[in-house]
Amino acid sequence: MNKVTWQSPSNIALVKYWGKYDNQIPANPSISFTLNASNTTTTLSWKEKEADDNFDFEVWFEGQLEDSFRPKIEAFFKRINHMLPFLKRFSFKIETSNTFPHSSGIASSASGLSALSLCLASLAQSLNIPHDEDFYRFASTLSRLGSGSASRSIFGNLVVWGKHLLIDGSSDNYATPLSSEVHQVFENFQDTILLVDKGEKQVSSTVGHGLMNDHPYASKRFEQASENLSKMKAILSSGDLDAFGNLVESEALTLHAMMMTSNPYFILMKPNTLRIIEEIWKFRKETKTPVYFTLDAGANVHMLFPEMVKNKVDTFTKSKLVGYCKNEEYICDQIGQGPKQL
Ligand code: PMV
Repeated sequence: MNKVTWQSPSNIALVKYWGKYDNQIPANPSISFTLNASNTTTTLSWKEKEADDNFDFEVWFEGQLEDSFRPKIEAFFKRINHMLPFLKRFSFKIETSNTFPHSSGIASSASGLSALSLCLASLAQSLNIPHDEDFYRFASTLSRLGSGSASRSIFGNLVVWGKHLLIDGSSDNYATPLSSEVHQVFENFQDTILLVDKGEKQVSSTVGHGLMNDHPYASKRFEQASENLSKMKAILSSGDLDAFGNLVESEALTLHAMMMTSNPYFILMKPNTLRIIEEIWKFRKETKTPVYFTLDAGANVHMLFPEMVKNKVDTFTKSKLVGYCKNEEYICDQIGQGPKQL
């Protein structure tokens, strides 16, 4: 069997993607930073088979055959079949593992689907399948068709996905690294992920995006996200941390407000999510430390801060926050350089 292995990171959005059109086209542009320690490693092995009438693959997760991942991957293969017309010609073995705890509530779809997309893009390259885009852009397009936010994990540092007039090269089809100037305060920016709830998500992101279709505030929200991306671009270049914190916290609460005001409505924050947010606000006010929170579509809190206050924030985490984390678990991560072929 031939094989290829990629390690790909998760990412955390600063301006959130929530709402999409057919074919995984985002309703608004988003920007994230790519993480460093929270990764999925995927090995794709393949051999040619006789008939080419169906998709043939096995999925192994952390050493165990894992049939529960099959429907998602089958749906992904169907969506990318037009781009990789050789898929049905091979039997695949997909072996995957995460560096973060299983069902920690950390979105594994971004790291998982980007890692698989990179493996498939490498296979396409080895077969000399012509495509008119560069390798990473092609992998990002595949990745978007797996999970929208996964398109951003293909690149390191700050990454934009979705067409925006002020971002050169931005597209709804693939993500693109932010090429404008970024202030040095954001170098090695830190993300401590406080694991509040490790349970299964109450609502899948597919359903969540769908609820934006008839949402009473949707069009205003999509407009706001584009404006916030313009503001974020200026903040990233000026290094204004207060403005950064104000924007990311507002984005996080707006994402959750969209969920609370959809129909059906749902609340993904848990009591400890709010306790942690209150502690962060108190600590920031009392010590003037630039530390801010953001949230994904779940209860965990991502605490963002510049590297220069790391010692102070680590002490604060251990003394005030760890008690609100399930099994006292949290992950110290930071901005990363993007996927690696192993
Ligand atoms: O990539 P999806 O379809 O799982 O959507 C995830 C969207 C958020 O994580 C909530 C926000 C974002 O931009 O990453």
